Amino acid sequence: MIDPFGRTVSYLRVSVTDRCDFRCTYCMAENMTFLPKKDLLTLEEMNRLCSAFISKGVRKIRLTGGEPLVRKNIMFLVRELGRHVHSGGLDELTVTTNGSQLARYADELYDCGVRRINVSLDTLDPAKFKAITRWGDFSKVMEGIDAAQKAGLKIKLNAVALKDLNAAEIPEMIRFAHGRGMDLTVIETMPMGEIEEDRTDHYLPLSELRADLESEFTLADIPYKTGGPARYVEVKETGGRLGFITPMTHNFCESCNRVRLTCTGTLYMCLGQNDAADLRTALRASESDEYLYAAIDEAISRKPKGHDFIIDRQHRKPAVARHMSVTGG
Ligand code: 5AD
Ligand code: SF4
Repeated sequence: MIDPFGRTVSYLRVSVTDRCDFRCTYCMAENMTFLPKKDLLTLEEMNRLCSAFISKGVRKIRLTGGEPLVRKNIMFLVRELGRHVHSGGLDELTVTTNGSQLARYADELYDCGVRRINVSLDTLDPAKFKAITRWGDFSKVMEGIDAAQKAGLKIKLNAVALKDLNAAEIPEMIRFAHGRGMDLTVIETMPMGEIEEDRTDHYLPLSELRADLESEFTLADIPYKTGGPARYVEVKETGGRLGFITPMTHNFCESCNRVRLTCTGTLYMCLGQNDAADLRTALRASESDEYLYAAIDEAISRKPKGHDFIIDRQHRKPAVARHMSVTGG
């Protein structure tokens, strides 16, 4: 699949549910309206959609949410997709999780063919963790990380950089992550979906964070890539890797290789744009996949050039109305 700007689309992110057992303040409103259960594709349908994308050239699939591991019977889909990893049809199957259910699922994820996961973790302070996630339990997440490492899963921690909330703690998070053999990536907060707070209050450009970190650590740019937008440095003092994802201060759309499928069968061709394609109708129109392939081709032909996120006092409205939990980042 090649889009109008010559970019090859080989990476599919799949949000298997818009629900989550946390309510991170920068992500969700406390009182969220979720999709009615009847609007969800079944896991069999999601599997068929994913298989169609694999036939069309997708080499990597990431399951996200919401929180993917709260979807009922999610391991059915993980196991089905894992078969493509075993057969060589997929290079990689990964999961992005908040870690709350990892203690329960880590072994099974590994058994299904998952080798790397991303765990979203913004702080190591249990009280701050509660303040940021509202509903999360820090000790459960720590148990989950322990279980995942024991199961053999490689972990990357993702932290959204939030001024006055966790910025001062990033050095400690670097030491924690690298001390346990995990990469850490920091992310700029993006203006997606209405939340109670004003995002301007906590928005921290990573150029600022990097300058702060350099008073304490020696950061060396390295060419390491995981197929995503993160730019990595090696932290000389720890020997570990630190990634920066800068959707706000550095636009990386020119190398975008991905599209995003939601749990209702809607395909978003860009995280920062509203345009989307309905694949559910084509999926349900016929048992053969020809309509689906045509709908996918048509969608890819509309992939936009990029996003233009802005956070400042003049731009109080989110760039897109949907929350991150619809497409899973
Ligand atoms: N801006 C940046 N990152 C966000 N996430 C959720 N909402 C936002 C936002 N508005 C992050 C989560 C998780 C990943 C899937 O996206 O913390 O790490
Ligand atoms: Fe849930 Fe992740 Fe959003 Fe937090 S950031 S509410 S864990 S989907």
